[in-house]
Amino acid sequence: MDNSISMEKIVSLAKRRGFVFQSSEIYGGQAGAWDYGPMGVELKNHIARFWWKEMTQLHDDIVGLDAAILMHPRVWEASGHVENFTDPLVDCKKCKQRFRADQIDPDKLARKECPECGGELTDTRKFNLMFKTNIGPVDDGSGLIYLRPETAQGIYVNYKNIVQSNRMKIPFGIAQIGKAFRNEIVTKNFIFRTCEFEQMEMQYFVKPGEDEKFFDYWREQRWAYYAKLGVRMDKLRWHRHGPDELAHYAKDAYDIEYEFPMGFKELEGVHNRTNFDLNRHQEFSGKDLQYIDQDDGNARYIPFIIETSAGLTRQLLMVLCDAYEEQKVADKGTDDDWRTVLHFHPTLAPITVAVLPLMKKDGLAELAKDIRAELKEDFSADYDQGGAIGRRYRRQDEVGTPFCVTIDYQSKEDGTVTVRDRDTMLQERIARAGLSEYLRARIKAYKRV
Ligand code: GAP
Repeated sequence: MDNSISMEKIVSLAKRRGFVFQSSEIYGGQAGAWDYGPMGVELKNHIARFWWKEMTQLHDDIVGLDAAILMHPRVWEASGHVENFTDPLVDCKKCKQRFRADQIDPDKLARKECPECGGELTDTRKFNLMFKTNIGPVDDGSGLIYLRPETAQGIYVNYKNIVQSNRMKIPFGIAQIGKAFRNEIVTKNFIFRTCEFEQMEMQYFVKPGEDEKFFDYWREQRWAYYAKLGVRMDKLRWHRHGPDELAHYAKDAYDIEYEFPMGFKELEGVHNRTNFDLNRHQEFSGKDLQYIDQDDGNARYIPFIIETSAGLTRQLLMVLCDAYEEQKVADKGTDDDWRTVLHFHPTLAPITVAVLPLMKKDGLAELAKDIRAELKEDFSADYDQGGAIGRRYRRQDEVGTPFCVTIDYQSKEDGTVTVRDRDTMLQERIARAGLSEYLRARIKAYKRV
């Protein structure tokens, strides 16, 4: 059996076990959009919570924000997105397919030859990635509004509000998680690149001249985050942007890349955005956006900004790929020799603990339900009594449940239960009374095997 990881296997498991479904599937699907099922929404919420805790709770100088998706259209003129947020596109005159010019063979592009059908390509033109819509009752262009292509701008336009309302002193950060939209032309590779996605961004405001120091600091912090997340660090690497890759706002930028089944690809970016954005908002809005530094003789300046920008939905794909394993667990020559297991960090797993009665009869089911009711106050706890116990373990392995608590006849007699570990499949018998504490300690001590 081929136990290598492929995107097809990830997509298939994601659908089969309720992580991710194609949007509007019964109508043939909507390209660039995906729906998160019962397991997927839990996993996504747990990743978001993990990031939020890391960035706000564990950093005293960072506060949160939840800005609107719809913003004044001048925001996007000031930010440079109206002018610069473009992809170079070509169309095939014969097969009508559209391609990103920078992603096709340069020789074919020079010959204007379609990479699919050999037909003639149009000249390259700039295509803006922002979705436009209309606000208000009249659709005559006067109500033009964009769906935000990044969450960052909501932070910049609120920076003064937050300095004033929360008495923030430089250096400080503002964190935000929310939807972003881009009219991406190439949306293959499942949820890697989509038109609707979620970002987890943090903008850190610093004194001019201190930007490089904090840029290095945030690169270190973001690398350390992935170690805490329990992913395989040898699958990550840094990529520094060359001059032709830098976004219009960036002085320096590094991506953290992950080795997905389709190769190393960007996971998150750490950007030195200088004072570009705030300068432009000051210019376009006419409002004074200078910071008054009381710790430096009331010096006035436009802060520099270090940005850490991660995709939540892309991180979910990374976590799924990283956790996925097809493991040989027996040698009987049947399909049952193999199990598919997701090695999620227990904090991220959609279900933390499943309670399984060995039998439905003799009061074992009642006892198991009672234990589950107790556990669900503290953990996301599942109950499953259907089928052979081995099959039930496999079902939990496939959605990455780190602990299975089994209730057997001995449980009735002496008040003990067995806890099966997802990764080692080893079982330990412990007193029911200490179960919650035991699980909490195991979650805290978790290390990826
Ligand atoms: N505010 C800066 C910014 O948006 P970016 O490199 O364009 O920078 C940051 O995007 C992150 O957002 C990426 O590293 C990626 O994780 C995620 N992202 C960007 N475009 C995406 C898309 N079309 N689909 C899914 N995630 C995307």
